[in-house]
Amino acid sequence: MKSHVARTGWIPYVAVAALGCTQPDTAPMKSSASEALTLESISSVQTEDAEAGGSAFRARSQRGLEISPVPLQTSELTHEEKLRVGLGSYIVNGTADCGGCHSSPAGFLSGGNPFFLDRAGHVVWSRNLTPDATTGMSLTEGQFFEVMRTGKDFHRDQIKMLVVMPWLIFRWMSDEDLKAIYAYLRALPPVHNLVPPDNKSDLPVPGSIPFPNLYNDGEVDRRLPREQGSFSARRGVAIAPRAQPHDLEDDDLRSYGLGSYVANSMMACNECHTNPDRTADSRKINTPAYLSGGTVFGVPPPLQPLMRQVRTTSANLKGATHGFFNEPDDSYARFREIIRTQSHADESPPRPLGFPMNLIAGNLAKVLEHDLKAIYTYVKGVPPVTGPNDQPRQAYARFCSTAADCHAGESCSAATNECVGKACTADVECDTCQTCNASACAAPAADSACVASAR
Ligand code: HEC
Ligand code: HEC
Repeated sequence: MKSHVARTGWIPYVAVAALGCTQPDTAPMKSSASEALTLESISSVQTEDAEAGGSAFRARSQRGLEISPVPLQTSELTHEEKLRVGLGSYIVNGTADCGGCHSSPAGFLSGGNPFFLDRAGHVVWSRNLTPDATTGMSLTEGQFFEVMRTGKDFHRDQIKMLVVMPWLIFRWMSDEDLKAIYAYLRALPPVHNLVPPDNKSDLPVPGSIPFPNLYNDGEVDRRLPREQGSFSARRGVAIAPRAQPHDLEDDDLRSYGLGSYVANSMMACNECHTNPDRTADSRKINTPAYLSGGTVFGVPPPLQPLMRQVRTTSANLKGATHGFFNEPDDSYARFREIIRTQSHADESPPRPLGFPMNLIAGNLAKVLEHDLKAIYTYVKGVPPVTGPNDQPRQAYARFCSTAADCHAGESCSAATNECVGKACTADVECDTCQTCNASACAAPAADSACVASAR
């Protein structure tokens, strides 16, 4: 199922387009006094996880070797190199989701999914990341780092940076973790799959954006710790877009930092759970709405009858009133159950999770308990969103072929194959993009702005 997924514009090029080439290499620090103080206090955040060969490193590596969906070529590697390959697999298949864009019917991470950027014919294709000699990834490790940190496109004939690839997120990963991903990609079975050429050369984007050497994506600019170890909690504390909560004890701060590292450099919760995800000038994360949901996703047509979903809206996670993590029955156990079962385990009967959260949860379900707990601690610790951004979000629109697929009293909209007709008093009670017309939920109009906004 995963192999057919082609998300359009996860980092829409319009977002990066506005970056221009003007982002300064070293923006001025505007770190407030209180933030500087907290940064002092986080020097206590242990970095025991950071050393290659440390126990956490080994645990992640072992899990990574277990969850790789393809056999790996590791027979000629040293023990240390093999550990690194395992860690890379842990990231690619667990704490991040490279396969969601880079896997295709041709094979695991073999590329070839189109991402349409507009209606004018601009399109890019996810690349073949396997080591196939003629059609696979030919980047050196140094070039791979440059791709991940600056968006530079090394493909022949390409003078513009990568525009769909979420390198603006991945750039915050440490050297150790980027090395591990590269080692894993090198150990993959080669898949011969020629990816079509991109059409993006006349877009208004630069060739790359230099790595800023400080975290400047959020509310507060912060120095990045010099240390470049794996799954670094200190790095995670530095790359949290919102101000740091002040009331965390040492252990929780470590967990918060680790969760932030995964959420903000690998899994990119912000990309989907903040709408829009970046400010109008696209330089920074839209922190006033951070993790309050509301992004609409169109389920790819071939998946609709299988998933029984047509359209979804990302959940409000951090709203003070309507946020999932502020609901009275919120707990780590509930979050864990939702991720592990890929369903709304807190409803009866439990609905399957909506697209593409089902894919994200499918990966997160494979990570170590310690790391899943850290993600929970982090999101829990993010300051709540208040004001107009804190809104309840619509449930996903359910696919149907006939009224028998819908609840009693509903009908099936022939035009859009979605269940309609539920009794309502307001739009929010209806499914994604539907409206409440004369006390009944109606399918979105042909010119619906909500549908047009769908990714
Ligand atoms: C939202 C979809 C998406 C995700 C998620 C994604 N990529 Fe990409 N990636 C792309 C696309 C599309 C391109 C090429 C076109 C562009 O972006 O302009 C690309 C290009 C690349 C390239 C350049 C390859 C070359 O031969 O030049 C590398 C390396 C890469 N991705 C690695 C990764 C890794 C590693 C991950 C996971 C940590 C990942 N990508 C996650 C969509 C994605
Ligand atoms: C690729 C997009 C995407 C990413 C990345 C993503 N989510 Fe989601 N998430 C969604 C969508 C869409 C929904 C709504 C699913 C539904 O309606 O069933 C959702 C739902 C959820 C829910 C269920 C909330 C509820 O009300 O039951 C939780 C919890 C959640 N996401 C947490 C996270 C966390 C934490 C991260 C980062 C580690 C994350 N998500 C990353 C798209 C995403």
